[in-house]
Amino acid sequence: MPDFLWGAATAAHQVEGGNRWNDWWALEESGRLPHRSGEACRHYELFESDFDLARSLGHNAHRLSIEWSRIEPEEGRWSEETLAHYVAVIAALRRRGLEPLVTLQHFTLPAWLARRGGWLAADALPRFARYVEVVSAALTREVRYWITVNEPAVYAKHAFVTCDWPPCGKKSWISAVRVLRVLGRAHVCAYAILHQHRCDAMVGLAHSAPHIVPCNAASVRDRMAARLRDRALNDIPFRLFGCPARNVLDFIGVNYYARQVVRANGFSAFGVECTADHHEATRHFSKLGWEVFPPGLAQTLRNFARMGLPLLVTENGIATDDEAERIQFLRDHVASLRQARDAGLDVRGYFWWTLMDNYEWTAGREARFGLCETDYATQSRRPRAAAFEFRWLIGTRGAGGDGQ
Ligand code: FCB
Repeated sequence: MPDFLWGAATAAHQVEGGNRWNDWWALEESGRLPHRSGEACRHYELFESDFDLARSLGHNAHRLSIEWSRIEPEEGRWSEETLAHYVAVIAALRRRGLEPLVTLQHFTLPAWLARRGGWLAADALPRFARYVEVVSAALTREVRYWITVNEPAVYAKHAFVTCDWPPCGKKSWISAVRVLRVLGRAHVCAYAILHQHRCDAMVGLAHSAPHIVPCNAASVRDRMAARLRDRALNDIPFRLFGCPARNVLDFIGVNYYARQVVRANGFSAFGVECTADHHEATRHFSKLGWEVFPPGLAQTLRNFARMGLPLLVTENGIATDDEAERIQFLRDHVASLRQARDAGLDVRGYFWWTLMDNYEWTAGREARFGLCETDYATQSRRPRAAAFEFRWLIGTRGAGGDGQ
């Protein structure tokens, strides 16, 4: 077992291709989502060569998600073939010395459950529990690290507030809060099942953790808005999950991408994000408009360390077409990670988002986050300069030019 996990993260629907049994696929095909995942990166077939690539790039771990809708394409019908596939995927990682970190739920739902209301269906939890049982029985022997749910708060927001993700229905704050609570219960239930199958399992969730600051630190209103937003995004979700009081997390997965600068606004207690302000000249935004702010990673890790649990950086990366920008982002964030570790924080891994360019949800294929470039016409991968930089950083255990 490596003492620090270095790798890349992926999610089933973004890379596998042909995930026709889930809710995203249904809405992609109906034209209600702007892009189709189609064959994505054909990772479902090409996983062996993708893992060869990861290994050759110095990784010792890999984060992936498994697709509930493939495992249970119709309610109660379990695909032995899919389960055997994931067993083979994990074996392929192990053969290459890559420690698997497996996500059970990364945004997509089986279409049969979505048709009944998805997470808000009366029987969503027992159905999820059955799925986790089946997966645990098949995989816990070889998988120790698990993420139950990826970014519950992001999911709740897109599904029920901005409504640009399935179910693409009407805006409802009530449904957003309800779904967050259900996901909290789903996590707790998956936590128990995984531990029944493997007592030394390490089970966490991946939380999207923006670094939130007031626009004008001298303004009480801006400070209040930033504080409230920080509580809403970075604290309340954990309380809904019963943390930190209950013993339901073995680690916290931190997905860190960006800083949010917040200005008070009469209409929302959480203020509004300001991208244009008096610091504008020194601020830097990615292609998706996310603010690049490397010190925010160390700060975020410090904040979460207060919960007294080990931390994993489960996602960090940038959408860009400029390789120099990607490399700088990587270096600066690994330096920030290093700072957090040097300060004594219990950080146990770092996963770059993502191994190769893939289907980036509503941003489609133009948001290129990959260490490797995907040529979608031939499905070939070409490692970018950042991939070699990452390999070098891994070799120096994140120290870069600062030595060991
Ligand atoms: C995260 C998601 C991941 C990917 C990255 C860019 O919020 O977990 O699937 O889309 O953003």
